[in-house]
Amino acid sequence: MKNTFLLLLGFLSFVACKNAQKNPETRTNVSEQYRPQFHFTPKTGWMNDPNGMVYYKGEYHLFYQHYPDSTVWGPMHWGHAISKDLVHWEHLPIALYPDSLGYIFSGSAVVDENNNSGFQKGDEKPLVAMFTYHNMAGEKAKRNDFQSQGIAYSLDKGRTWTKYAQNPVIKSPGIKDFRDPKVMWHEATKQWVVTLAVADHVEFYGSKNLKDWAKVGEFGKTEGAHGGVWECPDLFPLPVEGSNESKWVLIVNVGNGAHSGGSGGQYFIGQFDGKTFKDDNKPTDILWLDYGKDNYATVTWSGSTDNRRISLGWMTNWQYANKVPTKAWRSAMTLPRELSLANTPQGIRLMQKPVKETELLRGVMNGIAAQDVDHSFDLKQQAKTNELSLTFDLSKTTSTDFGVQLSNSKGEKVLIGYEKTTNRFYIDRTEGGQKDFSKDFAGRHYAPRIATDNTLKLHLVIDVASVELFADDGSVVLTDTFFPNEDFSQLSLFAKNGVAHLVAGDVWGLK
Ligand code: FRU
Repeated sequence: MKNTFLLLLGFLSFVACKNAQKNPETRTNVSEQYRPQFHFTPKTGWMNDPNGMVYYKGEYHLFYQHYPDSTVWGPMHWGHAISKDLVHWEHLPIALYPDSLGYIFSGSAVVDENNNSGFQKGDEKPLVAMFTYHNMAGEKAKRNDFQSQGIAYSLDKGRTWTKYAQNPVIKSPGIKDFRDPKVMWHEATKQWVVTLAVADHVEFYGSKNLKDWAKVGEFGKTEGAHGGVWECPDLFPLPVEGSNESKWVLIVNVGNGAHSGGSGGQYFIGQFDGKTFKDDNKPTDILWLDYGKDNYATVTWSGSTDNRRISLGWMTNWQYANKVPTKAWRSAMTLPRELSLANTPQGIRLMQKPVKETELLRGVMNGIAAQDVDHSFDLKQQAKTNELSLTFDLSKTTSTDFGVQLSNSKGEKVLIGYEKTTNRFYIDRTEGGQKDFSKDFAGRHYAPRIATDNTLKLHLVIDVASVELFADDGSVVLTDTFFPNEDFSQLSLFAKNGVAHLVAGDVWGLK
């Protein structure tokens, strides 16, 4: 009897185990403290940069730097998730594991439409990923050739990956920082081009088959921000709104010395001919992607995404990413953002807005009547996740400092506002809750306003532990995280030293 029972128990756990393999737990536990409700997070463990973002057959693939065994950075794997709408994500098994050549650092992926790689066997197009091999033994031995680039391919819509037997495909030139390949198809020269971050500049390599690569050019030693090492570049063309012109955008993340301190992203606008990037702006002009403290390693999706260019960033900062007070997992991604180029009073600039799919999250809309906001105005919006779209008229505004306040019953608050006297937007998390885990966390982060007209717009997306401000149609963006000791439950408008004239306002609770 006892044996039969044990046999049955064994059989049942075998079935359970099999089912678990077939149906891995694809949902995240959203009830944990600080767990974002609609920003991507790993189920457990450590996450940093978004990697290998590629769109294929109705699925957005998101890979990410991942250490599954701990909530601090460690041996890097590529975690994996997919989404049909950029809002709901399904976790998939880890795609790439470290091997004898090294950890799997950041990189990208493309759809090899014409099978230039020769990897295709059946009907599915090969998805080809290129990533950096980081050889720990080499680093420990104080060599300088420990980073090289490898490729891997998938013939089953990204579900399983095979590393190329002849890796690495780009050997180290003997420079320590040689990483984060972003591959694209360059139509004008009919070749694949990879942009690599190499210490204080980027290098371009060209290839016909994604396997044999030769260096074709470089850019940036004397341009832009150099407060830290250059990492995670991206390069793509974008039309300039309202013109027949198209420009190339080169994104370069910089490991330190970003606008609000620590790591952040910058971009350049110019021309690219397959070899050389020519900057339209002055070498000393620094264009920041995001003025907040928490948006790093931003790169974009490849593959046909109905002509949209969609970016995603890692929503934290290397200054404290390993220390933020979450328990089972560490860090989240920003919202996916649609990028465009527009003429502004300062010249052509990148505009960002949440992808339109974000609207799927909208619950009941609460319209706010036009009015002069004086002191404080409670929006009576209890949900802790909200989206706000507010338009102010500066010609009828006497307040020197106005905006939105998030607060809780402990008196903790985060302010998102505009300082009229200095013409700057800001997010202030000085009194936003937990901050002692890093001296670099608390603070008010500013962004200069670019638009010059009297119509000032604040578009805010608020999750449990973050706010993203898209000001003036996304010409200025600020992203900050926060960790209140009790969830923020009160949302209000405030105006100091006078009135702020609200023209129109919409608030949605987000599902
Ligand atoms: C950027 C980065 C990359 C590197 C990866 C390692 O955050 O430092 O340059 O490939 O993280 O995890």
